[in-house]
Amino acid sequence: MTTASPSPVYLDHAATTPLRPAARAAWLTAADQVGNPSSLHQPGRAARRLVEEAREQVALALGAEPAEVVFTAGGTEADNLAVIGTAWGRRSEDPARRRVLVSPIEHPAVLESADHLGQSGFEVVELAVGRDGRVDLERADRLLAFDPASLALVTCQAVNQETGAIQPVAELAALARRHGVPLHCDAVQAIGHGALAAGASPAPLLDQSDAPASLTASPAGPPSAVVAWTADLAALTVSGHKVGGPVGVGALLARRDLKLKPVLFGGGQERRVRSGTLPAALIAAFAVALTEQMATQAEQSRRLAQLAARLGRRLTDLGAVLVGPSDPAQRVCHIVNALFPGCEHDALLLSLDAAGLACSTGSACTAGVAQASPVLSALGYDPAQARSGLRFSLGWTTGPSDLDALDRALPEALARARAAGQRDWPSADAPRRPTTPATASPGWPAPPSTAAASPDPTGGRP
Ligand SMILES: Cc1ncc(COP(=O)(O)O)c(C=O)c1O
Repeated sequence: MTTASPSPVYLDHAATTPLRPAARAAWLTAADQVGNPSSLHQPGRAARRLVEEAREQVALALGAEPAEVVFTAGGTEADNLAVIGTAWGRRSEDPARRRVLVSPIEHPAVLESADHLGQSGFEVVELAVGRDGRVDLERADRLLAFDPASLALVTCQAVNQETGAIQPVAELAALARRHGVPLHCDAVQAIGHGALAAGASPAPLLDQSDAPASLTASPAGPPSAVVAWTADLAALTVSGHKVGGPVGVGALLARRDLKLKPVLFGGGQERRVRSGTLPAALIAAFAVALTEQMATQAEQSRRLAQLAARLGRRLTDLGAVLVGPSDPAQRVCHIVNALFPGCEHDALLLSLDAAGLACSTGSACTAGVAQASPVLSALGYDPAQARSGLRFSLGWTTGPSDLDALDRALPEALARARAAGQRDWPSADAPRRPTTPATASPGWPAPPSTAAASPDPTGGRP
């Protein structure tokens, strides 16, 4: 679908994507339904019906059981519940479970939850991540094998919010299951972007070269499914506003046998793990948006893959260095992240904003001070590089005219940002420019040559 984008030209769909008309209609209709879904009277039962129908739709869209869907106020709350709730739930069953494994490139909703656990007596151990932004499975296996009885959970996202790197979640989940450790997956950026297939089998533990055609890179199309709600996963986070639903609603898929402690206390709604009056209208709209996103993901991903390839070529032509896996099978096509040597990303973002284009630095800006992207820093980029990255993210409303506008605005915005920065890359850290010309369906150019010197995540342990 290529309806007109909202004005300004909107290339920040990974932050939030426009509300789908069908979701808006469902929201407005349901908003007129008075009644608390927990009330026993007729209006309450009608509101409850809306919630339960939505629960079935969400379950169907994701290949889950309705009883596995816990509605939340969004991805952040679902991540908090999954990480903190699982850690304390599992520790209440066995006090020896006092360690959690977490990848260092998670969204703050996961990282801050892990930090909270660290301040509450848990040991937080980081998974290792390569320069391409993907979790190192071999290291993860070693970390899981080291005293698995002491592990409360492992958490790893499906797709990185800044680089678009698809994580080997299916493989990690199989490893975690083998060691008897529950895996939570934050799938907020994966849902409906070809990276999560409802009810599909997980990708087997295989080398891409041995993969069947359905799992290999398709240069012309989107990546194939790499994570699904299978028995290997214990919990999975989704968010409404990343799929064209309203902000403020999401869900945690949680296995019935996963011991979860609540992080909100009150009336005991949602299996007694998520108290609070259920927002029936938001939930109804979320279910409609998710269903539409999943139903259109194949077509949309194919369309966005072409736009992303075009965008990647344009960016490299302008001297940018693309970040993330070079293999198209290992990244989603709606996120394109590029470093702009000599620029502070804030200056470039504001310059593009002034020209009517919205994109993202992928990192917080505190009191007007340019911040290095924590994700790029975790991948080993130096501070100047990590402050030069911009994320362009595409979505269901993106069309060629959005990229035409970017094409026109970028050269001047870059010149302004470079003039403002007057800064050059330290030569020792200068990223290698692509040596091969971009082709119709390019792989990303090689990332900067020096590999990230990731600290030993085992802390010296095996
Ligand atoms: C990977 C990831 N997880 C969690 C969240 C938080 O979701 P929400 O905005 O619904 O709280 C985001 C939002 O950007 C995200 O990208």
